[in-house]
Amino acid sequence: MAPDLLPFSRPESHATCHPRLWRSVFRSNGALKIGFFSTGFFLTGLVYVAFFTAYGPSSWHLPGLDPPSLFDPDPLKLADPLLSEVLTLEQIRDIVAPTRGFFSRDYSLGLGWNNVRYIYEAALLQAELLNRTLVLPSFIYARACEYDMTVCADYATMVNKGDAIGSGEWSELPIEQQMGFRIPISAMVNITHLRSRQPVITASEYLRLHGQDPESESSSGFWPRQSYHTHPNVFETDKTKTPSLFVIENHWYNPQDTVRVDFIPEEMKKRGGLERHPGPDNYDGSAEHWPPLEPTALSIKLAETTVDRGFPLDWDTAKDVLKSSDLIGDVDLDYDDAVEGLLNAHGWEVLYTFPAVVGMEFAKLIVGDLRQVAPRTSIRGFKDDYHDLDADVVVLAGETHLGTKPGAMRFTEPLARHRYAGKVVHSLIPPQEVFDLAEILSSRMRQRTGGRMWMGAHMRRGDFVLFGWAMEMAPEDHVQRVKDRLAAGRAVLADLQYSRNWTTCDIEGATPDLEQAVLPPPQAGDPFFIATDERDPDARRTIAAAGAVFMSDLLTMDDRRAFGWPLMFTDLMAFAEQQLLVHSSFFYGHCMSSFSGAIINMRAGRGADPRTMYID
Ligand SMILES: *[C@@H]1O[C@H](CO)[C@@H](O)[C@H](O)[C@H]1NC(C)=O
Ligand SMILES: *[C@@H]1O[C@H](CO)[C@@H](O)[C@H](O)[C@H]1NC(C)=O
Ligand SMILES: *[C@@H]1O[C@H](CO)[C@@H](O)[C@H](O)[C@H]1NC(C)=O
Repeated sequence: MAPDLLPFSRPESHATCHPRLWRSVFRSNGALKIGFFSTGFFLTGLVYVAFFTAYGPSSWHLPGLDPPSLFDPDPLKLADPLLSEVLTLEQIRDIVAPTRGFFSRDYSLGLGWNNVRYIYEAALLQAELLNRTLVLPSFIYARACEYDMTVCADYATMVNKGDAIGSGEWSELPIEQQMGFRIPISAMVNITHLRSRQPVITASEYLRLHGQDPESESSSGFWPRQSYHTHPNVFETDKTKTPSLFVIENHWYNPQDTVRVDFIPEEMKKRGGLERHPGPDNYDGSAEHWPPLEPTALSIKLAETTVDRGFPLDWDTAKDVLKSSDLIGDVDLDYDDAVEGLLNAHGWEVLYTFPAVVGMEFAKLIVGDLRQVAPRTSIRGFKDDYHDLDADVVVLAGETHLGTKPGAMRFTEPLARHRYAGKVVHSLIPPQEVFDLAEILSSRMRQRTGGRMWMGAHMRRGDFVLFGWAMEMAPEDHVQRVKDRLAAGRAVLADLQYSRNWTTCDIEGATPDLEQAVLPPPQAGDPFFIATDERDPDARRTIAAAGAVFMSDLLTMDDRRAFGWPLMFTDLMAFAEQQLLVHSSFFYGHCMSSFSGAIINMRAGRGADPRTMYID
C-alpha cells in the first residue's frame, strides 16, 4: 500500500509550495497573495491520511441524535432509482459493441473518493484514446460512519478494510478504524449521465456479461488476471473462447526519461521521421521508438537546463534559455509560432497540460493552462502504443497518478487539453439528489448573509494538525487565516462586480456563472461556510465564534430524512459539503488536499471566475 500513496515522483519537489506556477492562474489579479506551505513530510502519515480520512479519522457523532429512528423504513431510498437501472445483458452488450473491447485498471479502492476520482478521470481518458469501454468498480469504500459503526452497517455492507484491500496496514488499529463500508458507485456518480458521455460499464456488469457471479467482483479494485478470464461472453457462440487479456505493464507507462502524451500528431511524426510505429516489440519500451537524432548545440543547452529545472521544461523557462543563447540567429522570440518553429527545428516539441498546484501534483487541478517543451525522442503516445491491440480486455497495471499531471499524461494539442478539462468536470457528476441538497443548503447560506453572495473554505485539521501540515495549529489562528483570505476574496468579488468582466477557466462547456452577476457581493462580518474535520468541541466553538457556519448548522432533520441513508457516512457527508462549496462565490482551500482540489475543479466547471478561488 505504501508506495501507492507516495505523493511525489521526485524528491526535489518535497513539501515546498512554489508560488510561481500557481500565480499564472491568478495572473489577472495582483491582489491575491500567494502563501507558502513548507512543513515536513512523513510518508507513513500520508498512508494514514489517504485511507482513513474521509476527511477526518474519527466519527462525527452528532450530539443528541438517535440515528436509526430518523430514517424512513425503506433504507435504500437513494439507491432505489439506481437499482431499477439494472441493465439487461443486451444493453451491456450494446454499450460495448461500438468499441474495440474493454479497458480497465488496477484501481486503488483503498484510497479516499477524491483520489479514486482522479484515477477514474484519467482512466476515462485512457479508455477513450484506445476506443474501448471503460470498466469501473461497482462500489467504493466509505471509511467512516457519522454514528456508531453498527448503525451504518445496517445500511451498507461493512468490511474489514485490510481484508478487502489485501493489506495489513491497519491491523493494529482499533476495530472501528479497521472497518469500511461498501457504497454503490451510483451514490457518488450519476452513471446514466456518465454513460451518455462515453461507453462505461461496471465490473459487476462485466462479470454478468461473461456469465459470472457479480458477487465475485474484486474487492480491492485490482483486475484479477485469471478469474475474470475464465468464462466466454454470454453472446459468444464459441463457448471455448474466453476473453483475452493484454496487460500494459506499469513500468511501460512512463519509463524514465520519457514523456507520456495522449497521441502523436501526424505533423510531429513527419518532423521526427517516424514512419511506422515500432509495434509490439516496443510495448515494453525497449525498442528504439524514434529514429535517432543528432543533437544540436541548442538542444543540448535545453537538455542541460532540465537537470535543475525538471523535465519537461516549462515554456517560459525554455524561452529564457533561447533568449540567453547566442545560437538562435534572427528569430523573433516575441512570436510564439517562431519560438515553436525554432524548438521543433532543434528536436523539441510543445506539450499542453495544467499548472501544478503551488508546485505539487496533489490536487489534480484542471484550472489554468501550462505549455511545456520536451525532446521529441522522449515522447510516447498512449494511443500510438496501445490502440491497435486485439485483446478483448486491456488492463493498465498499477497506479499512474503519483506525481503525474491530471490525466496521467500530457496533451499534444491545446484542444485535447481543453476537452480533458471538460471531461473532468462534466463526466463524473454526482446524482441529482446531491445537487438538489447543495442548492437547498446554498440558499440557506444566502439567507444567513442577507441574500448576498457567500464565501467558504476548507479547513483541513484533524490528522493534518497531528502531522503538522495544517495551515495553522491553533484554531483561532487558523480561522483568522481563513478570514484574512476571505477578506481578500470579498474585495475580488466587489471588483469583479464593478468591472463586470468575469471570465471562466479554459474548460470545455464552462460558461460564466450567472449568480456572480446578480447577487450583491459579501459584506464584512457576513458569516462564511467552513468544511472541516475538526471534531474538538472547544475548537469548533472557537471557529464558530469567528463567524463560521458548519454543515451541522445548515442541515435539518427533514433534509436528513429526505436524503436518506448516505448522509450517515462521513464520506458522503463530506461529498455533500463539497457540492455545497461548489456554490460558494469565493473559495479558499488547502493546496495538498484533493478534497479542496475537486471543489476548485467543479467550481471552474460551473463557470466560476478563476479569481474567485484561492489555495495555499
Ligand atoms: C472504435 O472501434 C470500433 C470497433 O472496432 C470501430 O467500429 C469504430 O469505428 C472505432 N471508432 C473510432 C472512433 O475509431
Ligand atoms: C443523471 O443525469 C441525467 C442528466 O444527464 C438526469 O436526467 C438524471 O436524472 C440523473 N440521474 C440521477 C440518478 O441523478
Ligand atoms: C477586469 O477589470 C479590472 C478592473 O477594471 C482590470 O484591472 C482587469 O484588467 C480586467 N480584466 C480583464 C480580463 O479584462
